[in-house]
Amino acid sequence: MEGSYQRIEHLGEGTYATVYKGRSPKGEIVALKEIHLDPEEGAPSTAIREISLMKELDHENVLKLLDVVHTETKLMLVFEFMDKDLKHYMDSVGNHGALPPQTIKVFMYQMLKGIKYCHDMRVLHRDLKPQNLLINSRNQLKLGDFGLARAVGIPVNTFSNEVVTLWYRAPDVLLGSRNYSNTIDIWSAGCIMAEMYTGRPLFAGSNNDDQLIKIFRIMGTPSEATWPGVSRLPNWKNNFPPYPPQRLEQHLPQMDPYAIDLLKKMLVYDPGLRWEASRCLTHPYFQDLWQPAPQHSLQMPANQLHEHHLQQLQLQQQHQQQQQFIRLQMQQQQQQQQQAQQHPQQLHPGINPHPMPPHGQSGWPNP
Ligand SMILES: Nc1ncnc2c1ncn2[C@@H]1O[C@H](COP(=O)(O)OP(=O)(O)O)[C@@H](O)[C@H]1O
Ligand SMILES: [Mg+2]
Repeated sequence: MEGSYQRIEHLGEGTYATVYKGRSPKGEIVALKEIHLDPEEGAPSTAIREISLMKELDHENVLKLLDVVHTETKLMLVFEFMDKDLKHYMDSVGNHGALPPQTIKVFMYQMLKGIKYCHDMRVLHRDLKPQNLLINSRNQLKLGDFGLARAVGIPVNTFSNEVVTLWYRAPDVLLGSRNYSNTIDIWSAGCIMAEMYTGRPLFAGSNNDDQLIKIFRIMGTPSEATWPGVSRLPNWKNNFPPYPPQRLEQHLPQMDPYAIDLLKKMLVYDPGLRWEASRCLTHPYFQDLWQPAPQHSLQMPANQLHEHHLQQLQLQQQHQQQQQFIRLQMQQQQQQQQQAQQHPQQLHPGINPHPMPPHGQSGWPNP
């Protein structure tokens, strides 16, 4: 029961939960997420079942739910312990919050792998933001906080610094679309990517409409031409100011051409044309993670150690990534062949909604 897990220290406050560092009955260090339940209602059994299903999720980039302890007033979720969330990491390691480009790349790759796994398992995250991404001492990044607390808990920390934020919310969700697609998580991942480069949120709105306007000012106000069906979404207003799109590369000079190109694929308005996680992982932005890292001398100045550590991490992941990349390439080829057989016209350039030039051909920016 609950007593067999011991609290060690307070770690963080969310909106619905308090998180402690703790010790399991076996002596392992864990994170204890205590969700306060409505004393009248307790936790609905459907929610408990849903939470228990989350125990089945098992991926190196998804925070592992180890145990669920349910009492009358509290629900305690026991997770693997992580060092800090990405927000804390950016504040403590970053330069005014901004991270080194190679760290961002390794984090983005891990984030997208975690998202791909969840989507393959038919789980949408829906609330990706730096506070809900956890980093451990080996610089592994894992997706956490799948909204389980929101589903069952009552808000306990109205004064906590983690207020409900709209900054990472996809425009389709802000406009009231109820056909949530996988790519709502990709929009959030794109916003987080830009924030890791600058240290500042890309679109920091203060309410639903303000959030939309902040997006429109940079990405341009969408229209039926750029996003068919947008004007039929519940929150669409015909009097939204018609902002022209800005050049993202001017707005984000810190990002190299490949990074900008991937970001543009993640911040596509039309959710059906926005890239899926599996596709993002094949973007050439990540190509140096697929190639062997150079050998380093063991003696290395302290300021290079961090980069060296990341390169070691890349080496460890390299084999797996290459395998995955080859599998994806084969799948894509197979799909293209099948499409060509079924709908020969779809391969015609300009009709295929997802043109993807092979590496080294025109269509990708020059590095
Ligand atoms: N496994 C963990 N290890 C370390 N810290 C964690 C862990 N899980 C959560 N935290 C910290 O607690 C905060 C709140 O946890 P979270 O699961 O996001 O709760 P909420 O649903 O209330 O937002 C996180 O932003 C993070 O700082
Ligand atoms: Mg959270």
